[in-house]
Amino acid sequence: MYCQPLPAQTTSPTSVRSTATVRSSLSDAASEKKVEALLQKMTLEEKVGQLVQYSAGQPTGPGTGRSDYDDMIRKGEVGALFNITTAHNINAYQRIAVEQSRLHVPLIFGLDVIHGFRTEFPIPLGLASSWDPELIERTARVAAREASASGIRWTFSPMVDIARDARWGRITEGSGEDPYLGAAMARAYVRGYQGARLDATDSIAACAKHYVGYGAAEGGRDYNAVELSVHTLRQFYLPPFHAAVDAGTATLMSAFNSLNGVPASANPFTLKQILRKEWGFQGLVDSDYTAVAELVAHGVASDGSTAARKAFLAGVDMDMVSSLYHENLAQVVLSGEVPETAVDEAVRRVLRVKFALGLFEHPYADETREAGAMLQPESLSLARTAAERSLVLLKNASFSGGAPVLPLSNEARTIALIGPLADDPYNMPGSSSAQGRSEDVITLRMALIQRVGADRVRFAKGTDILGGSEEQFAEALKTAEQSDVVILALGENAPEMTGEAASRAYLGLPGRQQQLLEKIVATGKPVVLLLFSGRPLTLPWAFERVPAVLAAWFPGVQAGPALVRTIFGEANPSGKLAVSWPRSVGQEPLYYNALNTGRPSGNIDLTHPPKNGDEKYISRYIDEQNSPQFPFGYGLSYTDYRYGNLQIDKTQLSAKALNDELHGGERGVGTAINVSAEITNTGTRAGEETVQLYVRLRGTSVAQPVRALSGFQRVALAPGETRKVTFALGAEAFAFWNDQNRFSVEPARVTLWVSPDSSRGPEATLQITK
Ligand code: NOJ
Repeated sequence: MYCQPLPAQTTSPTSVRSTATVRSSLSDAASEKKVEALLQKMTLEEKVGQLVQYSAGQPTGPGTGRSDYDDMIRKGEVGALFNITTAHNINAYQRIAVEQSRLHVPLIFGLDVIHGFRTEFPIPLGLASSWDPELIERTARVAAREASASGIRWTFSPMVDIARDARWGRITEGSGEDPYLGAAMARAYVRGYQGARLDATDSIAACAKHYVGYGAAEGGRDYNAVELSVHTLRQFYLPPFHAAVDAGTATLMSAFNSLNGVPASANPFTLKQILRKEWGFQGLVDSDYTAVAELVAHGVASDGSTAARKAFLAGVDMDMVSSLYHENLAQVVLSGEVPETAVDEAVRRVLRVKFALGLFEHPYADETREAGAMLQPESLSLARTAAERSLVLLKNASFSGGAPVLPLSNEARTIALIGPLADDPYNMPGSSSAQGRSEDVITLRMALIQRVGADRVRFAKGTDILGGSEEQFAEALKTAEQSDVVILALGENAPEMTGEAASRAYLGLPGRQQQLLEKIVATGKPVVLLLFSGRPLTLPWAFERVPAVLAAWFPGVQAGPALVRTIFGEANPSGKLAVSWPRSVGQEPLYYNALNTGRPSGNIDLTHPPKNGDEKYISRYIDEQNSPQFPFGYGLSYTDYRYGNLQIDKTQLSAKALNDELHGGERGVGTAINVSAEITNTGTRAGEETVQLYVRLRGTSVAQPVRALSGFQRVALAPGETRKVTFALGAEAFAFWNDQNRFSVEPARVTLWVSPDSSRGPEATLQITK
């Protein structure tokens, strides 16, 4: 069902854009000559130097303890640095490379610019909830503009790891659990960072990471081992990487994890066979932070020299931080264990990226451009739009029989704003927030006061994210009791509880926040719960008792204005979950595109003990439902949509014709079938709805998921308006990795849904014959 290679999406007008410029600029004839000329002049040590990368700023992992960078740069022993900020500091290092090293090869400077540089946008999981690739592209463009003004020409983003487990801290950094959505987002990020031309001074090289399987860490524990069949790898985990490669990503990062026992940073199957041979990737592969040295801990190398040799021969061009290439690569070449031609090839890849970025012509950042590039009014306005579109309305019931609680009407005279995240500029940017600063953030409290006036807002922190006191509870309760409505802002601490090295075994509210929630609800006041988190949180109590719940993720610098506009209905929520939201941790890993099993639970009510064998001997928990709290693709609005009149223009397709299309010429570009449905806004407010198309195949050589996303479109609908939405599906929508590990179409019975989420919607069937 997931195409190889991925063609431009047939369903999104925003995704079809040429990547030819970026691709060819990595290897055009003129720069190729310059690369060769330079290579000829290099000593073996200088060649190795191009493959060495160090962190010369705030470390983002265990350090090597080195600090003699100036000297190393002068000797041509370093090709790249990262974690340095400000154009001034970057230029200082660059001057040593360009003016004092023998061959004057510029350094490339990288940084984790994940969801903005100074203008922080929502965390990537929030951005993905917009289901809006064009928006993501624009946010990445702003990030590129700001980062490049600071001298950063390489971001270690996008993280395109499929994440099926909310325990994994890094679920926050990616686009969720689905390969189709993930691929669309991967393309959008790459296009945004790299722009139309990589050598434009405001473009930065993208780095698709972490190749591959990192998101499938066993038990959701960061850095843990990964077991994935080749089938699952190809069908679910590789497509977003392939999409990034197809979109022209200049670089890729090899992951920390072992994959079926072979570490991803020493894995020739994924790095050579798939990446280079099958996909034709021309760019540079960088290791993750000390991943080369970690081959020793993994147990596939007994010393540093072997680790360097194994990683290098498997296809890792550049060594981030571990210093093992620096210390060993020349030796293993001289001893004949590694051919120098292989080193030459890796150096070519590094130099091509540097030439493509125009670093030889413009090695220095323009220090006068730096300050002016940050927090531009249009960047902030985009940050607000992005934040609004990232919000997912999970529940919106009435409080006492009337209209739903949200949007709040102006009738609420006094608003109690309670919770540790209500006035917390520190957490709003989320984890991995590059140059994001608290002082740039407009908090919920600030924006609320601006909207309704200080006299109507009563604030109490209520508790800390972790910790808190009885006095804080008492103050919060008093505040709630004296007000007409309560806005409760609860959740995680972004830097410590989400992101790298922040996996959680419990997914409830941290600290005493659940207690605070229960006490506030007990006051009998209407409560709007805003959840700030880097992942779904398991809060069955809240979902049952609190009338309105909004997943806010970490919305970035414009958190306050976006939330307030949404709370009062100036913005209508349109976000849809990019991950299945679990009821309890025991359900993880949880994902909608699962296999049916031989004993599916069907529609049996699992809240009661099984009555007979039919109900007992099925794939279920005895103490929890199978279904998620909220399914993938789910999200409410202040209006309602009706889905109807599903139509397909063919009821039979031929597998042979589809395979001809898939494996010949313009892959997947032809339209096999048009699927349309009518979506009506049945409410009284204008809204935007993301219409989703799902496919299920039965009768295939390899069991296929109960549903797989194969298209989505955002449509704007005025009250009462009906729009016909058409999906033009190509062969790839019906293709999958079969029992011969070939990507192809087989005869099958097909069910198609056009739906508001992954759990419902009208369906149609068709047959794929031989
Ligand atoms: C380790 C992380 O896994 C990776 O995503 C990041 O880019 C590097 N550290 C550099 O900070």
